Amino acid sequence: MKFLSSLSVAAALFFSSISAVTISEINGNKFQSSYKNQVVSNVTGLVTAKGPNGIWMRSITPDNDASTSESIYVFSSGIVPNVTVGDSIMLGGRVSEYRSSSAYLYLTEITSPVNLTIVSKGNTVKPITIGDKNTVPPTEQYTSLDKGDIFGLPNNQSLISTTNPVLQRTKFGLDFWESLSGELVTVKKATAISKPSSFGDTWVIGSWKVTGKNSRGGLTMRPGDANPEAIIIGTPLDGTRNPDDTVLGAGLADITGVITYAFGFYRILPLTALKVTSSPSPALPPATKFVAAGGCKELTVGSYNVENLAPSSAHLPTIASDIVNYLKSPALVFLQEIQDDNGPTNDAIVDANVTLTTLASAISDAGGVSYEFADIDPVDDQDGGQPGGNIRVAYLYNPKIIRLSNPNPGTSTQANEVLPGPALKYNPGRIDPNNTAAWTASRKPLAAAWETLDGKNKFFTVNVHFTSKGGGSSLHGDPRTPVNGGVDQRITQADVTASFISQILAEDPNAGIITAGDFNEFAFVKPIEDFVSKSGLKDLDVIAKIKDVERYTYLFDMNCQQLDHMFVSNSITKKADYEHIHKNTWVPYDDAPSDHDPSIAKLNVCQ
Ligand SMILES: *[C@@H]1O[C@H](CO)[C@@H](O)[C@H](O)[C@H]1NC(C)=O
Ligand SMILES: *[C@@H]1O[C@H](CO)[C@@H](O)[C@H](O)[C@H]1NC(C)=O
Ligand SMILES: *[C@@H]1O[C@H](CO)[C@@H](O)[C@H](O)[C@H]1NC(C)=O
Ligand SMILES: *[C@@H]1O[C@H](CO)[C@@H](O)[C@H](O)[C@H]1NC(C)=O
Ligand SMILES: *[C@@H]1O[C@H](CO)[C@@H](O)[C@H](O)[C@H]1NC(C)=O
Ligand SMILES: *[C@@H]1O[C@H](CO)[C@@H](O)[C@H](O)[C@H]1NC(C)=O
Repeated sequence: MKFLSSLSVAAALFFSSISAVTISEINGNKFQSSYKNQVVSNVTGLVTAKGPNGIWMRSITPDNDASTSESIYVFSSGIVPNVTVGDSIMLGGRVSEYRSSSAYLYLTEITSPVNLTIVSKGNTVKPITIGDKNTVPPTEQYTSLDKGDIFGLPNNQSLISTTNPVLQRTKFGLDFWESLSGELVTVKKATAISKPSSFGDTWVIGSWKVTGKNSRGGLTMRPGDANPEAIIIGTPLDGTRNPDDTVLGAGLADITGVITYAFGFYRILPLTALKVTSSPSPALPPATKFVAAGGCKELTVGSYNVENLAPSSAHLPTIASDIVNYLKSPALVFLQEIQDDNGPTNDAIVDANVTLTTLASAISDAGGVSYEFADIDPVDDQDGGQPGGNIRVAYLYNPKIIRLSNPNPGTSTQANEVLPGPALKYNPGRIDPNNTAAWTASRKPLAAAWETLDGKNKFFTVNVHFTSKGGGSSLHGDPRTPVNGGVDQRITQADVTASFISQILAEDPNAGIITAGDFNEFAFVKPIEDFVSKSGLKDLDVIAKIKDVERYTYLFDMNCQQLDHMFVSNSITKKADYEHIHKNTWVPYDDAPSDHDPSIAKLNVCQ
């Protein structure tokens, strides 16, 4: 756009069917083209790649503005057999902005190409290396429209498609990738930072500078750093298929392909399938260092989202063996996603006795302890999750170490209360289960009071599974900030849970309280920030000084991220230690019994 005077813009708009323009003029220095829906003629370029439904061409008269991409996609399966990579061509067609969902960004392309002329053949085609001078992706922010915090609320206050900001490619990741739209690029020294999707799409980083790198080679999301320097590798152009068992941190052969935008993300369509050249070692992490010593001094407490666990689940034995071999049979285990006795069969059964006894026997069969369990059945079909599954949170506990303090289980709809002592009205009991603003189609937290077998050391727990991020929009999507699915409900859930906990601490500021589970949210986003400030609890990742880049329990898109947390009251922060056991994020989907990693703490609950 740099050399286009305002007079020629006006002329181009007026003679909308006869303009001869360059590719950089078509792309312009914004997300969307100012030539949108116009017919352009005599566009010249070098064919750099071909796909099943079109070709990519690069300008042979580039401008000096790095924000205006020099390449473009020509969408037409008819043109594919008519050109060869290395041809210098001229054509006309219509400039079009395409997206398949209103939550996505538009791709600028030329459609209905006509008047194809092959100007010359056999020209050299050289990809641009990402990471070379002037082609270095920004590492923290995605777009100016996020105003410095991609998780800031409220979400969806602006749309890239209507604001169409001028690209600032050295500052913002989306601007950077847009400035290379259609370009043939190479990623050198590539590392996989996700597992492949069901289509084989895999997120990677290359030889460029990155932030948030963890010891496994992935990128961990941190406050102010959601890793826009990563790019997804999509379907190969030659009809081959990316491997489906690539793991986090795997080394890959150099990747060459074209940059496009599809299915909510900027992506590289590689010329051929990804090739794994190395896998990180060891394949699996070591087991926890923490072992339940038997008393109040070093109580081990695990937490594990066991992903829709039913008695007949094929992954049940692996979950059992994880609890034995990786968590070393903690004294207390917070479980999430325990299904009812017939799993997803959608009938009136809500009891999970068979699920939990099957799990407990599998644990003892695997050489673990003989656990007892505590849970409360939900009201049928009222707590969300897989239809019919009636997932709930539950506790496994080692009755040789701890027991429920004056057990008195509540029903599905009885609201637990903090009594003087402090003590719980129901043990265990669900928190405010009739609060529809907080808990519609979501799991109710389960509060319990425990004591060591001598009755001397008491502590409280709250097991949570907040509502999921389903229904959100992608980090590369149109709404800014992106829609964080379920965030308003999670704020209410955090508030209700925190106020219950703060009542225990109001009764006794020295009470020992452990809250753990799948919060479905990051520590630096409002629901968790609110939870910490209102509950008075401390984030165990911080107490245990776990490095920020090692705080993850889940892989999603380009990020290693932490949805699962443990928070404890002041009186049990002393000598507290904590570990995330990455045995599921590190392995292919088929080898992982759950999409979450388990975590484990060692806590002193002596009084
Ligand atoms: C396009 O190129 C042809 C010949 O190559 C020329 O006759 C025509 O005037 C050009 N059109 C425009 C709009 O520049
Ligand atoms: C294609 O060529 C014809 C004949 O020269 C011309 O009339 C027409 O404008 C051209 N169309 C485009 C889009 O270049
Ligand atoms: C490709 O070549 C075929 C056969 O010559 C022709 O019919 C078709 O119009 C050409 N398509 C384009 C986009 O040039
Ligand atoms: C974002 O807001 C726009 C209106 O500005 C609306 O049309 C769109 O549906 C919203 N997107 C999402 C994902 O909520
Ligand atoms: C729970 O299930 C076990 C068998 O798995 C059975 O022995 C026991 O009676 C059941 N308990 C209740 C309360 O249903
Ligand atoms: C919750 O609602 C049910 C009816 O749906 C009622 O039986 C129960 O008493 C209510 N619980 C509380 C704590 O209000």
